[in-house]
Amino acid sequence: MARDDEEEKDDDDDATTTTTVIFRDLTAENKEDLRRLNQIIFPVRYTDKFYEDCARAGAATQLAYDKTGRELLGAIACRLEMDPTKNGARLYIMTLGVYAPHRDGRIGSRLLQHALNAASEDAFIHDVYLHVQTNNIQAIEFYERFGFEQGEVLRNYYKRIDPPDAVVLRRDLGASWTRADPPGVTFERNFAA
Ligand SMILES: CC(C)(COP(=O)(O)OP(=O)(O)OC[C@H]1O[C@@H](n2cnc3c(N)ncnc32)[C@H](O)[C@@H]1OP(=O)(O)O)[C@@H](O)C(=O)NCCC(=O)NCCS
Repeated sequence: MARDDEEEKDDDDDATTTTTVIFRDLTAENKEDLRRLNQIIFPVRYTDKFYEDCARAGAATQLAYDKTGRELLGAIACRLEMDPTKNGARLYIMTLGVYAPHRDGRIGSRLLQHALNAASEDAFIHDVYLHVQTNNIQAIEFYERFGFEQGEVLRNYYKRIDPPDAVVLRRDLGASWTRADPPGVTFERNFAA
């Protein structure tokens, strides 16, 4: 979960199986769905610039809707950052959240899998990273299952939540990531290319 920029802050789906979902790119039409999800799940408030950055990350940012396409269940919001130390870019995962009643249906895993797929298709992007609050052990373990490694602990990274500390989780892209399509996902694309 990225820190905030400025402000104070299915009926026939079995949780033991994979919930069928529709993945959509972030657009002007569904931007408010993502904003609402983030407001409910994350204790920080994001500015309009956050959502503009997410849209610019292209297919790495995805919204997961239920199979009717009407209800947002979860989303991954990413931005691309130039890496000043290397000739390339990094994918930064700003938020990954699934509404509590829809957790454990592999929605989070498939959103992350898709973002890693999308990033790995761009040779310019060499790694993926994010910040997680140090007490969010389940989230840290979730990312470790995808090959992320814990790095630096940033004291007082968050301004208005306790604990304020974040750990950086990072994963290389390239040969170490094996691309596979996430199961049970229908894609509704909006990008021209
Ligand atoms: C992390 C999260 C996106 C996972 O979504 P999901 O759709 O439930 O994920 P999946 O079904 O693919 O995987 C479930 C796994 O996530 C783990 N998990 C990670 N963080 C969790 C959390 N905060 N609450 C509940 N489960 C969590 C569960 O332990 C479960 O592990 P298991 O496979 O060993 O049972 C979701 O739990 C969530 O929105 N958490 C709150 C926000 C958050 O902490 N985001 C991560 C930091 S940006």
